[in-house]
Parts: sequence; structure tokens; C-alpha cells
Amino acid sequence: MASYLETAVDIAREAGSLLSHYYERRVAFELKGDFDLVTEADRASEKLVVERLRSHFPSHSIVAEEGGNHEGTSEFRWYVDPLDGTTNFAHGFPMFNVTLAVEQAGELIAGVIFDPLRQEMFAAERGGGAYLNNRRIHVSRAPRLEDSLFATGFPSARRHKSINVHFFHQVAMITHGVRRGGSAALDLAYVASGRLDAFWEFGLNPWDQAAGILLVHEAGGRCSGMKGEPVSVRGPHLLASNGTIHAQTLELFDDVFNGRYRVPLPQIPQP
Ligand code: IPD
Ligand code: CA
Ligand code: CA
Repeated sequence: MASYLETAVDIAREAGSLLSHYYERRVAFELKGDFDLVTEADRASEKLVVERLRSHFPSHSIVAEEGGNHEGTSEFRWYVDPLDGTTNFAHGFPMFNVTLAVEQAGELIAGVIFDPLRQEMFAAERGGGAYLNNRRIHVSRAPRLEDSLFATGFPSARRHKSINVHFFHQVAMITHGVRRGGSAALDLAYVASGRLDAFWEFGLNPWDQAAGILLVHEAGGRCSGMKGEPVSVRGPHLLASNGTIHAQTLELFDDVFNGRYRVPLPQIPQP
């Protein structure tokens, strides 16, 4: 298995350096959907990652965000997000990464998330622990929601349908706060490394979360659906936490799903 992780680390480093060069030049963006941005950096990074994977592992399948899919003949499948955080990238907001993960017969076995600006390589393999730049990482020990820092994200597709603002308000009122960094894979890497205590998002894609789910598990945390269902890389909804606050978060979410707001939404005073 080590060769999968090592290869993924090498590819992520190479793609990350490509992304840094594009980032310095500030590339233009196009729209894939109403608010879904894409740049030439997304495509160039994906081309590089897919070419490398196909030359190392010709029989493996690939699911890649910008369409570089490949149906292989083996039980291995890679998930590739060549640039996670494209909106940040396009605006010069320094939070993005390249992430890839591989599953064998439906089980995640290795994954990496690389932040080229901070030169932070988050890596995990099943049963082998989670690492940041080769040092072991662990989730936080925050015992209660009241001691916790959360992060979330909002989808760019069909965003007017998102119910997340209800959850955002309740979590923000009870915890130390909610960050919205704009890069789901880094949010998950930060849960794995204890910089965040939990992260949730409705409507993630497999490539956003594959490596992050493995990292959080290997760092001692817990991942589930929003109602405690077993997690799937195909999600699409994910709650990831340090484990200790998982049940408390699910209880809070249950209240929100059922309209029991612990802190009511403030009214806007009328003139
Ligand atoms: C997006 C980012 C964002 C999350 C969106 C993702 P992209 O990925 O991870 O934080 O809220 O759901 O789609 O489009 O930049 O690869
Ligand atoms: Ca993404
Ligand atoms: Ca992307």
C-alpha cells in the first residue's frame, strides 16, 4: 500500500507547484454553473494528476472533477480534486489545495491533501495513521460544543436550495464560532490535525471529501452523515469531528432538522 501513498504524495507535490505558479500569475476564471468557477489551473492540474496516475496505475479507475475520468479494469479507484478552493484561488484568497485518494474494492486506503502555499502535506493510509509533513497528527480533545471551533461550506451549485444557513446560525451561537474557509479538503485536514474540532457540509462531491474522510478516521476522529448514518465517499452530506463532540453535534442537528432552535434567529428591527 505504501507505494500508493508515496505516489500520491509525489503527484500532489508536483500538481501543487503547478498551482502555485498559476496563482502567482492570477488567472482568469470561467463559470461552469451559475456560481461555479473554473480556471485553466484546474484543468492543467487535473491533466497532470490524471496523466501521472494513468502511467503509474494503468488498470485503476479515475474519478476527477474536471472530467478526466477513466474506467479501469481493477478494483482500485482514485478520486481527484485538482484544485479544491477554486473560488478562493481565482480571487487571490490564499486557501486552496490539490487532493487525491484511492479506494480498493470500495474502501479508502490512501489519501493526500496538499496546500502548496503553506507547503503542508496531509497524508494518511488505512491503519497507518495520519500525518502532516511526516509528523503524526491527531484530532483535538475538545469535550463540548461550547469549547469547539467548527467549519462549514456552502455548495456552489443550486445554492439557493441550501438549508445550511439554519445549521450555521445554531452552531455559531453555541460554539466558539464557525469558519467558512472555502476549501472542504483543508477543512477536513484541519479537523484531522486538531486546528478545528468539527466540519460539516451538505452536498459534497466524492473528490472533495475522499482523502479528508480517511485523514479524520486515521487521526482518531469520526465521520458520519448528518443523522449519524455511516459515511460514504459518495456522501453527499458529511459531519466530521474529533469524535468526542460527535453525538452532541448530531443532537443539535436533530433539533435543527425538527425546527427546535436553541437560539432563535434575531428579528430585523423595522423602522
Ligand atoms: C468547493 C470547496 C468549497 C465547498 C464546495 C466545494 P471546488 O470545491 O471545497 O469549500 O464549500 O462545496 O465544491 O469547487 O473549489 O473544488
Ligand atoms: Ca472541491
Ligand atoms: Ca475543484
